[in-house]
Amino acid sequence: MKVGVLGAGTMGAGIAQVAAQSGHATVLVDVNPEQLAKAKAGIEKVLARLVEKGNKTREEADTILSRLTFAGAIDQFAGCGMIIEAIVEKLEVKHTVFRQMEAVVEKDCILASNTSSLSIASIGSVLEQPSRIVGIHFFNPAPLMPLVEIIPAVQTSEATLQQAKQLIDSWKKVTVICKDTPGFIVNRVARPFYGEALRIYEEGVADFATIDWAMTTIGGFRMGPFTLMDYIGNDINYTVTETVFQAFYYDPRFKPSFTQKRHMEAGFLGRKTNRGYYDYAEGSDLPKPTEDMALGKQIFERILVMLINEAFDALFLNVASREDIDLAMTNGVNYPKGLLQWADELGLPYVLEKLEALFAEYGEDRYRPNPLLRRMAKN
Ligand SMILES: NC(=O)c1ccc[n+]([C@@H]2O[C@H](COP(=O)([O-])OP(=O)(O)OC[C@H]3O[C@@H](n4cnc5c(N)ncnc54)[C@H](O)[C@@H]3O)[C@@H](O)[C@H]2O)c1
Repeated sequence: MKVGVLGAGTMGAGIAQVAAQSGHATVLVDVNPEQLAKAKAGIEKVLARLVEKGNKTREEADTILSRLTFAGAIDQFAGCGMIIEAIVEKLEVKHTVFRQMEAVVEKDCILASNTSSLSIASIGSVLEQPSRIVGIHFFNPAPLMPLVEIIPAVQTSEATLQQAKQLIDSWKKVTVICKDTPGFIVNRVARPFYGEALRIYEEGVADFATIDWAMTTIGGFRMGPFTLMDYIGNDINYTVTETVFQAFYYDPRFKPSFTQKRHMEAGFLGRKTNRGYYDYAEGSDLPKPTEDMALGKQIFERILVMLINEAFDALFLNVASREDIDLAMTNGVNYPKGLLQWADELGLPYVLEKLEALFAEYGEDRYRPNPLLRRMAKN
């Protein structure tokens, strides 16, 4: 099947590489010729490295490259069985390109969006045949991150959903199916990893380094929240938080943090500006954590129970299945364990007790224990 990818930026280039590696004739289209050239050079470089490391032969790399076509116009998508759109995150622009794409393909071509924050329903609303819309949400970098969230909109047909899932499964990705709700699974359930860490810092409980130490050393997470936010970029991470907060009608659970906003406003974006929560300039040392086990455990458990509460909320509201919620967090953001499995291991009454203690202490809605967690803890 010929696959189309629209947008040759960070995500589009990676998705096109995955499609070509999976054996598809792949057309990558972008309005900006420089982006196309950059994407082509980037994919060539990645494949050259794989050859160097012995992971691929030169012939295999050449075959993959020969499957890729780089083009400037949407009419090159003619004959595609599926197109994944990965352009700017603006609904009006997406509407324009989805109308254009539908005009050049056959009736059975699936039209997918890689959007992180727009609803799939809103994107598909402009199609003549809206049953062919589906969300196919990859994680950055697309060739390396196993998870792909598959999101049926209210318009999506069962056939579209199943075909999209089978195709992405055949690309050796871990697919999960989730409802067309803000943040899908990962960007919703992961919010407290950042938000609660920022809140703990703001209360003066501990500094960045100590919170990061607690989450990595005690919690087993690969990166602490502040190190991770510096990697992602405080501009990007803040925007996701704000978008999710607005999309949930200002539910206080998702309230953004002033600390992060000020870092963003100051241009302390993280690694990319050499300064975020930490100073990455040459010659500067990273601060040392206070390695106090009792404090560390308190920090880790507070963030963990907030994450578990969010996972329960997603399960309670049927955003995804129990298995898919756990798979999403381990494969999309490398959590050491699925949150629902983690909750079982800790014991649901213990998790509930921690949340109730926070809720009693603060009286804030953000700490309210999820009804499903309450129900299951009782049984
Ligand atoms: N960056 C991430 O981590 C990430 C992760 C998952 C999903 N997403 C989503 O993927 C999409 C793309 O994000 P990105 O980070 O790759 O963006 P990007 O800015 O790196 O790339 C966007 C590309 O789209 C091109 N483009 C813009 N308008 C176009 C048009 N009308 N026709 C053709 N090409 C056009 C631009 O030239 C650019 O090359 C967004 O919807 C975003 O929400 C991003």
